[in-house]
Amino acid sequence: MPWTRRHLLTLEELTVEEIDQIHTTAAAFKRTLQRSVKKVPALRGKTIVNLFLEPSTRTRMAFDMAAKRLSADVISLDGSVSSTTKGETLRDTAQNIEALQADMIVIRHAAAGSPLYLSKILNIPVINAGDGAHEHPTQGLLDTFTMRERLGSLQGRKVVILGDILFSRVARSNIHALKKLGANVTIVGPSTLVPQWFAHLGVKVSHDLRSALADAEVVMLLRIQHERQSLGMFPSLGEYTSLFGLNKTRASWLNPKAIIMHPGPINRGVEIDSDLADGSRSVILEQVTNGIAVRMAVLYLCSGGQPEYVATSA
Ligand code: CP
Repeated sequence: MPWTRRHLLTLEELTVEEIDQIHTTAAAFKRTLQRSVKKVPALRGKTIVNLFLEPSTRTRMAFDMAAKRLSADVISLDGSVSSTTKGETLRDTAQNIEALQADMIVIRHAAAGSPLYLSKILNIPVINAGDGAHEHPTQGLLDTFTMRERLGSLQGRKVVILGDILFSRVARSNIHALKKLGANVTIVGPSTLVPQWFAHLGVKVSHDLRSALADAEVVMLLRIQHERQSLGMFPSLGEYTSLFGLNKTRASWLNPKAIIMHPGPINRGVEIDSDLADGSRSVILEQVTNGIAVRMAVLYLCSGGQPEYVATSA
C-alpha cells in the first residue's frame, strides 16, 4: 500500500495499515539513529516550520531533531515571540509562513481543530503537534510504538490509562490507536475526570483503581491538565494523590512484567512517585527517544516518501 496522506491531523482517521506503515518506517529510522552518522538525506532542500503556540519541551525538540536528522532546514517559531502577540490571526501567521516558502508546518495550538483548519487553507502538509484537548497524534504513535517494542503485538493486551482523561489529547489519541491495534483499554480516575461517556470509544470506564490496575500490562499516567480546567474537578491535589497517585503498593497490583508510561511532563509525587518514574519498569525516557524516529517517519511520509524505500535503504 503506498502512503497517500499529506497531513497528519488525528489518529481517529488513520487505518491500522497506516499506523503499521508509520511504525515500520520509524523502526527503520531508529536503526539509522543508532549509527555513528545519524543523518539521512531524505528531506534535503525542504524547510519545515515548527509553529508552537503552546508550551512544549519534548514534542518541539523531537520535531526539531527529527527534521535535522532528515537533513531538512528547520525553523521553530515560539508563540510568545511571534506577531500573534500583536494580534495577528492564526490564518495570517500560517499564510505568511507558507509565503516564506516553508514546505511543511508542524503546529501546536490550544484550540482543538486548528491543524484541520490550516490543512484547508494551506497548500503544504500540516502536522498536528497537539490541539487543545482534541488529539496529539505523534504522541499516540510513539506511545504505541514503545508498547509494541516492549510487548510485541498489542492484540488482547490490557492497557490502563490513569488520570485526567477528560482534558487529555494524549488519552484520546492513544485510545484511537490502541483500539485499532486490538488492545483492551481501561481508563480510570475520579468520575469528574473520567466520565462514563468515554465508553462510546470502546474503552472500559472505571473509578476503582485496584480492579483497573489488576493484571494490567501497561499503565499510562497522565498529569492533571490545570491549563484546560476552568473549574476545580476534585478538592485538592493531595486528595487526588491519595486516591489515584501511582505508588509502590498500587504498582504491585499490576502484571509483574507491566511497563509504566507517561507522556510527560511529570508532576512527581502527584500522579506518580519518583521511585516508580525512575524505576526499572518505567519506559518514560524510551518514549521520549522513540519520539524522534516516529516524528522522522511522519515528516518523511507526509512529504511524499514511501515506507518501502526507507525500509530497504535504512
Ligand atoms: N508529551 C508532550 O507533549 O510533552 P511536551 O508538552 O513537553 O511537548
